[in-house]
Amino acid sequence: MKKQFKIGDLEFSKPIVQGGMGIGISLSNLAGNVSKNGGLGVLSSVEMGCDYPNYKENPKLANRQAMEDHFKRAKEISGNRPIGINIMVALTQYEQLVKDAIQVGVDIIFAGAGLPLTLPELTRNSLIKIAPIISSKRVAKLILKHWWRHYKIVPDAIVLEGPLAGGHLGFKTEDLTPERLLAQPLPGLIPGVLEEIKPYEELVGRKIPLIAGGGITTAQDVKETLAAGADAVQIGSRFVATQECDASLAFKEALVNAKKSDIEIIASPAGLPGRAIHTPFLEEVSAGLRKPKSCPVNCIKSCDHKTTPYCIASALIAGKWGDFKNGYVFSGANAYKINEITTVEALMNELMGI
Ligand SMILES: Cc1cc2nc3c(=O)[nH]c(=O)nc-3n(C[C@H](O)[C@H](O)[C@H](O)COP(=O)(O)O)c2cc1C
Repeated sequence: MKKQFKIGDLEFSKPIVQGGMGIGISLSNLAGNVSKNGGLGVLSSVEMGCDYPNYKENPKLANRQAMEDHFKRAKEISGNRPIGINIMVALTQYEQLVKDAIQVGVDIIFAGAGLPLTLPELTRNSLIKIAPIISSKRVAKLILKHWWRHYKIVPDAIVLEGPLAGGHLGFKTEDLTPERLLAQPLPGLIPGVLEEIKPYEELVGRKIPLIAGGGITTAQDVKETLAAGADAVQIGSRFVATQECDASLAFKEALVNAKKSDIEIIASPAGLPGRAIHTPFLEEVSAGLRKPKSCPVNCIKSCDHKTTPYCIASALIAGKWGDFKNGYVFSGANAYKINEITTVEALMNELMGI
């Protein structure tokens, strides 16, 4: 199995990237420990300050302070190894969060849930690395072409998130039926994306590493994904079931106890399908009983509280604390295969077949 992995001058002893997970699931403890163990830990930038005492009265200030605090702590835990941040394009604060991440000194931004077409502009004159998250060859081509044509820039890395991933998905709901999922396994999506990357690698004379994820659960999955041409894997759900993950024990246990039939595709207020574990809250959403009365944080660009089925920020914050009457748990399609809460070190060794 390929071991080392590089993004420019950032070097990793294990080809494992921990996917950013909001709200409050991948913060400093998880990200710091993944980096400490030789992978790349990634903070989630969504409502990072939701536990801060000043969050209700000034969420922007609390979120900014939390980004600084979690980045500093993750660096301490990891022994000053690289730390990334996931910033969703769909967020109203997207541009501000990118600026904050540059100021705070984060090593690399991963941007998805929308097309990060202007990311090179937003990060111009900074040393921060940038990696778009894409879900198809078509979107890889579009971003590569746009960045090159407008900015003469190529991504520092690209993340391919396949249809088995947790959280928001870059696929149409009709492409997420069990039959369609069987027809598009992750390794099969990799060669097409590599084909789009290759001409740009030749143009700039350097490697653009491809990180692929979505449904990766075992060392065999890691091996097959790397054998298909990925330089590293991105993993979310398995990292939730670790002692170091920043979520509550109830959140982790919901994932560990989930059966295959509990994991479903939902329509997110972000205008994308998402994958989550069924909860009493989602039952009420399906019955149309969860209309929000107000919009507490105005988090998603396309969300209008008058028409949205529920407030996603409130639901994910409740879910983080294990309040499943008022929230839910995002999860990958294969999370039902996870049976235990382990440590980051043991998990990373297991995934590497050590
Ligand atoms: C609880 C949870 C929260 C997530 N939150 C985000 C997020 O805020 N932004 C994002 O780009 N991806 C998010 N994801 C996707 C992960 O970063 C990762 O790419 C994906 O889960 C990989 O699939 P796996 O869970 O099957 O390993 C989330 C996934 C989970 C399970």
